[in-house]
Amino acid sequence: MLDSFGRDITYMRVSVTELCNLRCRYCMPADGVCKKRHEEMLTEDETITAIRAAASLGITKLRITGGEPLVKKNILSICERAARVPGIREICITTNGTLLPSLAHPLREAGVSRVNISLDTLDADKFRYISRCGELTQAVDGIRAALEAGFDKIKLNTVLIGGFNDEEIPALAELTRRYPLDVRFIELMPMYDSGDFGPEAFIPYTVVLDKLPELVPVDPDGGVAKLYRLPGALGSIGLISPVSAHFCAACNRIRLTADGRLKPCLHSGDEYSLKGLDYDGMVAELRRAIVCKPSWHGVLNAENRSRAGRNMNQIGG
Ligand code: 5AD
Ligand code: SF4
Repeated sequence: MLDSFGRDITYMRVSVTELCNLRCRYCMPADGVCKKRHEEMLTEDETITAIRAAASLGITKLRITGGEPLVKKNILSICERAARVPGIREICITTNGTLLPSLAHPLREAGVSRVNISLDTLDADKFRYISRCGELTQAVDGIRAALEAGFDKIKLNTVLIGGFNDEEIPALAELTRRYPLDVRFIELMPMYDSGDFGPEAFIPYTVVLDKLPELVPVDPDGGVAKLYRLPGALGSIGLISPVSAHFCAACNRIRLTADGRLKPCLHSGDEYSLKGLDYDGMVAELRRAIVCKPSWHGVLNAENRSRAGRNMNQIGG
């Protein structure tokens, strides 16, 4: 369905839980999340009904997110049922990778074709610092499991953080020479509660171009990343610039939170609740949300933080 600015909305991100087994500093507060009451969250049936309603309006691609979607007990059932919804052509998942050793194969069998795995550093101490409680080896084992499971595409997501991982840009990019995976550098977004980061942490994507002069531009794949490749590499390098060069004019997505709120824009507080609605009610609310999708997200920087009103773990990236 077209929104009021002529953008064809074909992509829905579906957060299935706010919970996570890590506590990344850019994503959630140190003390984790205040667990919402079970009754406030969408049930599995409601999530599938929402996906059917969205597909009836032209959504063809889903990305399952969290929190960490793989901590959700019924994740395989959600993916399997979502993959069978008429009109849904592609199911991707975004994960921190730590639970992929046991779940990569079953997810592939459930119909998930692509995975994005977070990896902000290759240094064990820094991994412990940024995730507040994770171990690098768990994420690396997860990446290996994904490579073995035969997904159509594997992307590693690196959030660029000045003074933390800018020196590691070449080492992370090198992974695309050795493995069939893409590395995407994402500008740090100033979310609701990202007070850990001062202005120096917010570095623009152009830093990657400065550090990797050998990058060759390649044709975009329809996504929001500017794409490059290291000579002879197996995978591409993607640069995602929500802060320094926003891509709102080409935004084709809406988001559904685990508590059933449709967010037509990541950085707006506007939400449309699907909780408790039947199929027809959900279709009507989805239409309303798409019609009201704003043209862009407004100024974002260390002083002008996101107006999402939620942290990233409550939205799903
Ligand atoms: N800025 C940029 N990206 C973020 N993510 C989470 N929080 C932020 C933020 N503040 C992204 C990470 C992670 C995914 C779940 O969401 O890339 O891989
Ligand atoms: Fe968990 Fe991902 Fe948020 Fe890190 S970024 S705390 S892994 S949901």
